[in-house]
Amino acid sequence: MQRILLTGGAGFIGSHLAEALLARGGAVTILDNFAPFYPRAMKEGNVRPALERGASLIEGDITSPEDVARACDAAAPDVIVHLAACAGVRPSIAQPAAYAHVNVVGTQRLLDAAVARGVERFIVASSSSVYGNSATVPFSETDDVSRPISPYAATKVATELICSTAAHLHGLKVTALRFFTVFGPRQRPDLAIHKFLRRVAAGEAIPVYGDGSTSRDYTFIDDIIDGVLRAIDRCGAVEPFRCYNLGGEHPVTLSEMIAAVEETVGRRATIDRKEDQPGDVRRTWADLTRSRAELGYQPRTALLEGMRRQWEWMRAGT
Ligand SMILES: NC(=O)c1ccc[n+]([C@@H]2O[C@H](COP(=O)([O-])OP(=O)(O)OC[C@H]3O[C@@H](n4cnc5c(N)ncnc54)[C@H](O)[C@@H]3O)[C@@H](O)[C@H]2O)c1
Repeated sequence: MQRILLTGGAGFIGSHLAEALLARGGAVTILDNFAPFYPRAMKEGNVRPALERGASLIEGDITSPEDVARACDAAAPDVIVHLAACAGVRPSIAQPAAYAHVNVVGTQRLLDAAVARGVERFIVASSSSVYGNSATVPFSETDDVSRPISPYAATKVATELICSTAAHLHGLKVTALRFFTVFGPRQRPDLAIHKFLRRVAAGEAIPVYGDGSTSRDYTFIDDIIDGVLRAIDRCGAVEPFRCYNLGGEHPVTLSEMIAAVEETVGRRATIDRKEDQPGDVRRTWADLTRSRAELGYQPRTALLEGMRRQWEWMRAGT
């Protein structure tokens, strides 16, 4: 039986992953501090099904060596899947030091623990934001990522660098997964699809930054989870440290996304047009050549279908 320490397991992506790992027979220990970025009650709702199916929860902070040691003692992990982070591009501009502390120092604490305890595999969440405003699309793992345009993105580039260093120095097998705007049930309330579905349904105006021509390669949660499981199984197969894009491969403009929201909730959106936001990239689009070839990853859920499932979850109020 695989023993997995999963950080951020009370969050959006982590709680789905916990259930998928349990379903395939893993022993799952979650380390999460219920960071107040969004309501604790939502995170408790996210993590409840995994706890009911046998996952253990350690409430603690990844930046604390004591909490990390406690979680490692409880989990005795073969694999660490590290998803805990300060997420979100815009808030990172106001709090760059907090983002650096959690995302970089916290990741280093987990790498140190993984090396000290002889953990075999380390899977870490990176982000499409590492590509910044790269002029070439689709974004490939071999592109230069030395020009991030937000503190959040810079912490994810740094995350990849310290992971690569640990792989080089200590032989740890590490895989960094660059997630492209994930959506679906349990999506974080700060993310646009969640916010827009709620506001349009309530007849409230939605803030739209720019002229609607920016685009995102939205990726449905089930596709992301499938990619993470594949990455766990193939970690270290190609190189000790390897990055993969996990995207949807179908970028849509902000205007098209709003049209899908209108169709999903059956109501017209009132647009509150605002200036472009500093830190927001113009577009994202994943080149999946490597993840398809090396992981067998293939996204399957289209935006409208995934949005319908997210909306069902939101209406159920769970
Ligand atoms: N959702 C997306 O579209 C997306 C896109 C790219 C990358 N990512 C990355 O994927 C990961 C998961 O994102 P998510 O959307 O599920 O976010 P989330 O906020 O729902 O989940 C993150 C979890 O980490 C926990 N956490 C935060 N700081 C912590 C700390 N110091 N110690 C312990 N736990 C802590 C939070 O309480 C939360 O439950 C993050 O690393 C994020 O940067 C997400």
